[in-house]
Amino acid sequence: MPANKPVNLGLIGAGRIGSFHGETVSRRLVNANLVAIADPAPGAAARLGETLDVETAYTGVAELLSHPGLDAVIIATPARFHTKILVQAAEAGKAIFCEKPMALTLEDADRAIAAARAANVPLQVGFNRRWDQAFAEGRAAIDEGKIGAPQLIRSLTRDPGPFGADPDRIPLWTIFYETLIHDFDTLLWLNPGAKPVEVHAMADALIRPDAREKGFLDTAVVTIRFDNGSIAVAEANFSALYGYDIRGEVFGSGGMVTMGDVRRSSMTLFDGNGVSNDTWRRDTEHFVHGYTAQLASFVRSVRNRELTKGPTGTDARNALAIALACIASVSKKQAIPLN
Ligand SMILES: NC(=O)c1ccc[n+]([C@@H]2O[C@H](COP(=O)([O-])OP(=O)(O)OC[C@H]3O[C@@H](n4cnc5c(N)ncnc54)[C@H](O)[C@@H]3O)[C@@H](O)[C@H]2O)c1
Repeated sequence: MPANKPVNLGLIGAGRIGSFHGETVSRRLVNANLVAIADPAPGAAARLGETLDVETAYTGVAELLSHPGLDAVIIATPARFHTKILVQAAEAGKAIFCEKPMALTLEDADRAIAAARAANVPLQVGFNRRWDQAFAEGRAAIDEGKIGAPQLIRSLTRDPGPFGADPDRIPLWTIFYETLIHDFDTLLWLNPGAKPVEVHAMADALIRPDAREKGFLDTAVVTIRFDNGSIAVAEANFSALYGYDIRGEVFGSGGMVTMGDVRRSSMTLFDGNGVSNDTWRRDTEHFVHGYTAQLASFVRSVRNRELTKGPTGTDARNALAIALACIASVSKKQAIPLN
């Protein structure tokens, strides 16, 4: 592809994060055009297209994949459709950015990886925390040996409250498949080369105990033992009343790195009530730079026809394997060995 030719991207799924990714391509990236949007919900693609000056809206994925001059797609549909659409896009020869989770079973993860490989197209998965400056600097410090051998690793996701969603509309095991999957990727990425060997998860419905009987889970703690001896903890909760709280920590033989801050900025208010800070309330505000950096890198990969950097299909599979072990662990109330 000539160096100055913009990359033509199509968006599949015009919901909450798809709209934000569409806006990133249209407004925050150079050398990338959002040329078409597909969403089966009546009017959804056209409405987003109007906001972002994208003229072509489709209701079907196949139509979008046939859009003239399309180089790549961003898949931002609900999780259960990811693998099928990913394979379709690969077979159409398009480079792929897929939101997490890439798949819900290891068989589907393998299918997705194989399809991208067979088509020789770049495949990047949306683990955006890797692109956040603090997390990237934490990983760099680990790579430089500044904290020695990792011993204790921690990653947490507390979504902003109050929790207002209808538990009946949240697919079973979402806390592992869609929330903690970020933390599993983070823990693996902050512990380079180490393999998880045992997973133990506990989970409950503490915010909505009335939905517990239907299998809804809103709170979880996971411990993971790695083959390099390190022990990790991931935790999640759907209703942090004080904001969107994402943090990571690696404690090693030579020191510690911590990453993430719920405070919006260093602006601190001192007044009659004491000392206070505003906090992040939305992922798209907290991680705007990381979300933009991940798509900028994807655009570079599309241009080079090779994944430049970033979470791969295999990374997505590795995080999924932990999520599946968590589901088995909660179901059987026991630790699950991983091989
Ligand atoms: N990386 C992150 O930080 C992050 C944040 C939010 C969501 N996500 C992930 O992104 C995905 C979407 O989440 P969301 O919150 O935007 O969901 P959403 O429900 O707001 O949007 C999904 C959209 O996809 C559309 N859709 C459904 N089936 C489709 C199909 N076959 N083809 C095209 N479009 C289809 C729906 O009509 C809807 O507009 C989920 O997998 C979620 O886990 C990631």
